[in-house]
Amino acid sequence: MTKPAVLGGDPIRTAPWPQWPVHDEQEEQALLRVLRSGNWWRHSYGQGVELAEDETDLKSEAARFQRAFARHHDCRYGIAAANGTVTLEIALRAAGVRPGDEVIVPAYTFVATATAPLMVGAIPIFVDIDPDTYNIDPRRVAEAITPRTRAIIPVHFGGQPCDMDALLALAEQYSLVVIEDAAHAHGASYRGRMCGSIGHLGSFSFQVSKNMTAGEGGIITTNNSAYAESCESLVWGGRKKGHAWYRHFVLAGNARMTEFQGAILSEQLTRLPEQSARRSKNGQRLDGLLAQIAGIHPTVLLETTTCHSYHRYMFRYDPQTFAGLPKAKFIRALQAEGIDGVSTGYFTPLYANPMFVEKNFMGGSWPVDAWEHGRALNYADFIERCPVSERACASEAVWIPQSMLLAEPEAMDDIARAVRKIQENAALLAGAASEF
Ligand SMILES: Cc1ncc(COP(=O)(O)O)c(C=O)c1O
Repeated sequence: MTKPAVLGGDPIRTAPWPQWPVHDEQEEQALLRVLRSGNWWRHSYGQGVELAEDETDLKSEAARFQRAFARHHDCRYGIAAANGTVTLEIALRAAGVRPGDEVIVPAYTFVATATAPLMVGAIPIFVDIDPDTYNIDPRRVAEAITPRTRAIIPVHFGGQPCDMDALLALAEQYSLVVIEDAAHAHGASYRGRMCGSIGHLGSFSFQVSKNMTAGEGGIITTNNSAYAESCESLVWGGRKKGHAWYRHFVLAGNARMTEFQGAILSEQLTRLPEQSARRSKNGQRLDGLLAQIAGIHPTVLLETTTCHSYHRYMFRYDPQTFAGLPKAKFIRALQAEGIDGVSTGYFTPLYANPMFVEKNFMGGSWPVDAWEHGRALNYADFIERCPVSERACASEAVWIPQSMLLAEPEAMDDIARAVRKIQENAALLAGAASEF
């Protein structure tokens, strides 16, 4: 039995993992093109939302990018924006979600999925996730629907598409809007349909950890022209196409994407298909390797998933099979073996954050009236309603970032070997747990 690296032994892997973000002279040329043109600011309101035959006529980099991205995701409209938080807020507003409405969101997601409803005065209602996929569980969604429910935000968590058939059936039955939070799902598809094109609206992020990035950035996708027009107005300070520049028709901020972001993202999009294929191949290889280890359960790749974008590779860890070694120590031991990017993910489901527990919403100016005539919500109550999310955070979920899946296939074997080594040494590590 070899000594664990965390206790001074040799690590399984010393080779470096792929650098992220990926860039070369493609991105350099694109940035220089914008720099030298002097057109750093997007000046193309009303241009480029809808697909066109010829994109070369568009002067704006961001406009060209939004068209190309929308086309790649089978959408007629793409509305580029500053980030993937503001895109969720704008999508909710465009869909007519109003103060006091309820919006159903998963408890296991990034905070923006739940703050976006709050930012438009609506109430996020957390529901639990499916234990096999960590995606929102449609059965829990059905239980949470009330006469005040207006929208559902399914998150294609980690890049695996949600059970969209079940969610769309509920949406149809109760006249709800479905906004796909596709922040992890660039290029992912469900039964051959691209994420971002399945619900009424889709929202993507291009923040630096995402599968394509400009450091920051976001886009809304839709096939509905009225939603597209409304989203564009909300990105551009409430302007309206065909009207004077200084005429503002709806309350809105500035959420524009810059030309630098647009230029980089066009280049990143050209890399996406090859990178996706690599992540997919490595993700499935890792599934095969890890599934053979007792106490390690990769999240289940569903038959409905025609493309998993593997923004995160996730598996479930059973501490009992590892002599009770807590998840945080398991992660630290794995990192010491050279599996650098592995992490525990969220420490708690979203509702346990102080913001929700203490209802610190806009320093008291949040529309409490709307809240009060709704049901009295206590976010602490959600602990009992979301056991799967609780378990995922406390002891079970392990994340591997997308950039590690861009490594050579044999690197996946290193991950599995490191997990096995920790399992072989589990009793020793559990005993020595206080040392690391
Ligand atoms: C599920 C999810 N939704 C929304 C966002 C927000 O995106 P951004 O960071 O671009 O604001 C993120 C980003 O981490 C995310 O993971």
